[in-house]
Amino acid sequence: MKNDVLIFISSLAEETGTVLKTYFERPHRLAEYKPDKTLLTDADLAANHLIVDSIRKAFPNDHILSEEGNTIFPSDGRPTWIIDPLDGTTNFSQGLHYWGVSIARFVGGWPQAAGLSFPVLGENYMAFRGEGAWLNGKSLKVPPGDSHMVSFFLCDSRLHRRYTTTIRYKPRILGSAAYNFCGIAKGVGVVGLESIPKIWDIAGSWLVLSEAGGAILPVNGEIFPLTRGRDYNGFSIPMLGAADQTLLDKAKAKIEFVMQA
Ligand code: IPD
Ligand code: CA
Ligand code: CA
Repeated sequence: MKNDVLIFISSLAEETGTVLKTYFERPHRLAEYKPDKTLLTDADLAANHLIVDSIRKAFPNDHILSEEGNTIFPSDGRPTWIIDPLDGTTNFSQGLHYWGVSIARFVGGWPQAAGLSFPVLGENYMAFRGEGAWLNGKSLKVPPGDSHMVSFFLCDSRLHRRYTTTIRYKPRILGSAAYNFCGIAKGVGVVGLESIPKIWDIAGSWLVLSEAGGAILPVNGEIFPLTRGRDYNGFSIPMLGAADQTLLDKAKAKIEFVMQA
């Protein structure tokens, strides 16, 4: 079962990444605003369609929760796929390369498997709970936090509205919550803070960073197992990640909540 799920999830992420790339390479990328004022492109919908269809065929008894579909975590306890068909839509629509697809399978309310693809960057991540994480097929281990000459603090553009921080690392806003935590797993950042991600933004990269030996924690208390019957659309999950637990503890002490925006 483990290998079946891993092969399926990683191939589906890569296949979806390839489809997204064909949309990205078109001269005009069409975008519109959703009611919550975030962007939606035809590529988000095409990717969602492909992923949902493939999961339904391969795992007909599982549920699906998607940013572009059902957002309620089911109440019957069956395995549930949590997908963000395109994370980093704003970057995508403006031609910036940091975007990808994130697919995770949850069992018992916990992430069991994850597949993420950032096709323009050429980075494909996968992870399985208790078994490890991989980048482009090779085992992925977070490099030690003190091995960097320069250290980046990966964060999001709305951070300053809610938090003040005295984290001393150089801030970088890459525009993809999923990439931020995969980036720490890969060693491009040592600390990351996303101030208002939804479950689909972080479901896959949470597992990648955890399994790669990093530390990742919701700022406001544990969220797993997910709550049956909860609509995760109205529910932000501020998330802090770091190369290791010591760095995470130090970073947490340097973050102050300022307001509910
Ligand atoms: C967004 C991106 C962004 C993060 C936002 C997310 P989307 O996802 O991950 O970096 O700061 O919180 O909503 O809308 O591009 O899928
Ligand atoms: Ca997203
Ligand atoms: Ca999205």
